[in-house]
Amino acid sequence: MMHGVKKVGVAGAGQMGGGIALVAASSGLETVVFDAHGPAIEKCRALHDKLLARNVEKGRMNQADADGAKGRVKFVESPEGLKGSDIIIEAIVEDAQIKKELFPKLAAQLSGNGILASNTSSISITDLATSVPEHAARFIGMHFFNPVPVMKLVEVINGLATSTETTERVLALSEAMGKTAHAANDRPGFVSNRVLMPMINEAFYAWMEGVAEPEDIDEIMKLGCAFPMGPLRLADFIGLDTCVKIMDVLAEGLNNPRYRACPLLKQLVTAGRLGDKTGRGVYEYGK
Ligand code: CAA
Repeated sequence: MMHGVKKVGVAGAGQMGGGIALVAASSGLETVVFDAHGPAIEKCRALHDKLLARNVEKGRMNQADADGAKGRVKFVESPEGLKGSDIIIEAIVEDAQIKKELFPKLAAQLSGNGILASNTSSISITDLATSVPEHAARFIGMHFFNPVPVMKLVEVINGLATSTETTERVLALSEAMGKTAHAANDRPGFVSNRVLMPMINEAFYAWMEGVAEPEDIDEIMKLGCAFPMGPLRLADFIGLDTCVKIMDVLAEGLNNPRYRACPLLKQLVTAGRLGDKTGRGVYEYGK
């Protein structure tokens, strides 16, 4: 099936939204990014310039294609600027209430058969879709991975009411954006975080119980399992607060204490050691 998307709207100009927008524009799609926060837009624009320049320098893109991609991204500071989008991909803060307040405003901007997608990493798609009941069949999860321009996967999440046509269009769109897409159903953590997060959590238990030091745990998993980063380094990269939140979703949604966040992981969050973004998590990062 064809995706039928000419214009992509992205809500949120942060790390994920900015990456999604760059990938969409680089694959030839007209792209509009909405963020109410002006400085976030400026930061996103600067990141796009840097990444496009890097692509040209590395010979992955010629200058004309980089200029074309840049020219296809427009930034707007109100949801109305997304008018006429064939799909809007939401990538704002991971807070169900804030997302649900935004979705009706996004739905109002869609073209006739337009799709609403959320980049949430663990909030229930079925729950988010209740904020726009008339759009539930055209509501879906489109879970990209950080860093978006590098990571190949889109995990496509079907809510309870998502139509087969919507799933097929979003799978086709993801592939047209140069990604590989796989569908999963709306259960806590979907597939990626259902499997990844308990592994990361277990690495914190191993550290807490003195099985090995963090560096050893990470090197064992990197070299022994061919991971690009060890699980503790990856936790810092994702954000330890995010890891706790996702474990909480698993523990509550699957109603099983085996998914409880490791006390040491929670303690680091309490101390404000959130990972790369605060300069210290499991490891300390230079300025
Ligand atoms: N944006 C764009 N490109 C980036 C980037 C970013 N933020 N960060 C790194 N890159 C690019 C670099 O430019 C570099 O490419 P070139 O040199 O060819 O231009 C390439 O990625 C490799 O980067 P580095 O050489 O700096 O470092 P590296 O080889 O260690 O790779 C990494 C860095 C890509 C992050 C790699 O370590 C990796 O794949 N790590 C695992 C990432 C991962 O698992 N992500 C998923 C997290 S889970 C998630 O996102 C979802 C969730 O729900 C929690």
